[in-house]
Amino acid sequence: MKKQVAVGVLGCGYWGPLLVRNFRSLPDCRLKAVCDVNMARLKHLSTLYPDVEGMTDSQQFLHDSGLDAVVIATPVKHHYSLAKASLLAGKHTFIEKPMASSSAECEELIEIAQRNGLVLMIDHTFLYSAPVQKIAEIVQAGDLGRIRYINCRRLNLGLFQKDINVAWDLAPHDISIILHILGEFPTAINCQGNAHITPDVEDVTNMSLFFPQKRFATIQSSWLEPRKIREMTIVGTRRMIVYDDLRTREKIRIYDARVERPPHYDTFAEFQYSYHYGDSYIPHIQQEEPLKLACQHFLDCIETLSQPITGGRQGLEMIRILEAASASLKMHGAPMTFSNGAAPAPRFAKAEEILQAEAFAG
Ligand SMILES: NC(=O)c1ccc[n+]([C@@H]2O[C@H](COP(=O)([O-])OP(=O)(O)OC[C@H]3O[C@@H](n4cnc5c(N)ncnc54)[C@H](O)[C@@H]3O)[C@@H](O)[C@H]2O)c1
Repeated sequence: MKKQVAVGVLGCGYWGPLLVRNFRSLPDCRLKAVCDVNMARLKHLSTLYPDVEGMTDSQQFLHDSGLDAVVIATPVKHHYSLAKASLLAGKHTFIEKPMASSSAECEELIEIAQRNGLVLMIDHTFLYSAPVQKIAEIVQAGDLGRIRYINCRRLNLGLFQKDINVAWDLAPHDISIILHILGEFPTAINCQGNAHITPDVEDVTNMSLFFPQKRFATIQSSWLEPRKIREMTIVGTRRMIVYDDLRTREKIRIYDARVERPPHYDTFAEFQYSYHYGDSYIPHIQQEEPLKLACQHFLDCIETLSQPITGGRQGLEMIRILEAASASLKMHGAPMTFSNGAAPAPRFAKAEEILQAEAFAG
C-alpha cells in the first residue's frame, strides 16, 4: 500500500478550507494539521474537522507536527517567508497563486527547493481544469489555425484584497491559461488601471500581452462590476472558441467562423472579404473539481519526486509578468519589454507548424 503523505495547511481564511477539504478527500493524503494566526478561523475548522490539529504558531506547525508537505494559503505578502521556512524545514511546499511578491523571492525559493530535492508547486488552478485542458488540446491539434488574439474578462464585485491589486489577484488565472495555450512568454506588456476604493490598490485594470507573430492577449480585471463574468475568447485563423467558466455545462463553444481576404484581385469590384459562418459545436467535457486534481498532482509529484506542471518556474514567469504590469501601471500604461523573454519550449508541435506555414505564406 502507498504511504500517505502527511499534509498541513497554513492559512484558513477563504481559500484554505477548500484546500483542506480537497486534500482530505484524497486517499494518498493524511491531512494532519492546520495553522492560522486567527483563532476564530481555527475554531471554525475544528468544528468541521475535529480530527485535524489546529495551531496558531507557524514555527511549531512546521517543526513539531510531523508533516511531509505544507500548503500555503495566506495573503501573498506572507508567501515568501512562510514558503522559505517550510522548504528549509524540509517540507514539500505548495503555494497559492501568485507565488510571491517579487521575482527575486521566487528565484530564491526555486533554488532552495532544488538544493534540497523538494517539490515546489504553485496553484495555477485553471491548468488542472477540464475546459482549459480541452482548449489546449484543440489548439495543439491545430484546429483553430494560427491564434490571432485572446481576450479575457474576469469581473465581479469584490472581494477586495488589501496587499495586492486586482491584476495580482485575478489576472494570474488568465495569464496562466494564456501562457499554457500559446506555449510561450510575451515579448512586451502594458497595463492601465485605477484605484477607486483603496488608495494605491488598483481595483480595475486592463492588461495587454504581446507575443511574436503579431499575436496578443488582453485581460480585463475588476472588483467593481455588478455582474460576475469569467469569459475568454480565443480567435484563430480557422476557428474561434468562447469559454464561459460560469456556465455549469457547455463551458466551451467552438465556432467554425473566419474572415478571409481574397489572395489577389485586379479591380475594386472583384475585391470581397469572404466571411465564413459554419456550425458551432460544444465538445463534451468530463467535469471534475480542478482544485482536487491540482492537489492530487502535488501528491503524485511528491511520490515520484518530479516537477509539477505548475512548478516554481511557472510561478516565476507569472511574477515577472505581474511585476512588469505594476511598472507599466505606475507609468500610466507605458509598454514594458522583456529582454530575455524566451521561455517555454514550444509545447504544441502541430500548431507551431501551422504558424510557420502561415507566416511563410504571408
Ligand atoms: N487558486 C485560486 O483560485 C484562489 C482563489 C482564492 C484565493 N487564492 C489565493 O489563496 C491565498 C489566500 O487567499 P484568501 O482569499 O483565502 O485570503 P484570506 O485573507 O481570506 O485568508 C488568509 C488567512 O491566512 C491567515 N494568515 C495570515 N498570516 C498568517 C500567518 N503568518 N500564519 C498563519 N496564518 C496566517 C489569516 O488569518 C487568514 O485566515 C492568496 O494567495 C490568494 O491569491 C487562490
